[in-house]
Amino acid sequence: MKGIVLAGGTGTRLQPLTLVSSKQLAPIYDKPMVYYPLSVLMLADIDDILIIARPEEIELFRKLFGDGARLGMRIDYAAQEEPRGIADAFRVGADHIKGEDCALVLGDNLFHGAKLPTTLRKAARELRGCVLFGHQVAEPQHFGVAEIDTKGQLVSIEEKPEHPRSNLAIPGLYFFDSTVADIARGLRPSPRGELEITDVLRAYLAEGRADLVWLGRGVTWLDAGTHESLLDAGRFVRDIQHHQGTRLGCVEEIAMYMGFISADSCYELGAEMKGSPYGQYVMESAQAHRLNPAPAKFLEE
Ligand code: DAU
Repeated sequence: MKGIVLAGGTGTRLQPLTLVSSKQLAPIYDKPMVYYPLSVLMLADIDDILIIARPEEIELFRKLFGDGARLGMRIDYAAQEEPRGIADAFRVGADHIKGEDCALVLGDNLFHGAKLPTTLRKAARELRGCVLFGHQVAEPQHFGVAEIDTKGQLVSIEEKPEHPRSNLAIPGLYFFDSTVADIARGLRPSPRGELEITDVLRAYLAEGRADLVWLGRGVTWLDAGTHESLLDAGRFVRDIQHHQGTRLGCVEEIAMYMGFISADSCYELGAEMKGSPYGQYVMESAQAHRLNPAPAKFLEE
């Protein structure tokens, strides 16, 4: 399965933070925002990823990840000239997908939870059209919203409805089969002028090929698109890391546990940043893995 991280957009809501750099490179506590969505795709066992960004910001992302080889992955880049909407990712990324299944994650979405890796891999394995996720929120009107019937079946999907039919928001993480590029090609812009991801999801729903997976209370989902939510996300990451002694979105460690790179390579990546607690953590994690190469607990469930 291929992966896409959508990291373009104008970042207007985060100005002036985003005047000279990308929103998705803004720090969430100890690492750039994009580490978190990238790590979600890695946990789903995806190692061939396209990062879509604004033309002037592509080189910044390339500086961070190169061609992905250091993480045992392939990472490519593509420019989105204008923010034409989330579903534009499948047009910009059409060559990358090339008839394969594809997971899309939004570059400002952060997920955390013990059961998340298992949930993601199951969704990818059982894909029969598209999988979207549902997460209960207090203010669903700010998101895509899913409505389910009394049997838990998905019945409707709406983009930021004024009067939401449920409190089940649709986070920015989706799995699609290879027909997604064709569906996206046939889309028309919505009244607000965007190619809407919810229109893609609705096309699958109309064909009876959309599955909703409830993320449940064990998973935290944050969308770091505003100053408030950016700070909230940073606090969340800091608190979890501080109390649990593990790091979230640590791409080097995840690459090692997923078997993309060896413990030795992971150690070397950490050593390059040994002046920081993050680098130290990566080195320690590699050392622990050398001593006990059992799969990480989070991959076993
Ligand atoms: O966060 C989840 C929500 O994301 C979903 O529930 C909604 O259905 C979905 O439309 C989206 O809503 P947002 O209002 O949060 O979308 P936003 O315009 O902020 O874009 C989300 C990310 O995608 C952001 O990191 C910028 C990037 N983006 C967005 C657009 C429209 C692009 O790279 N290119 C674009 O053209």
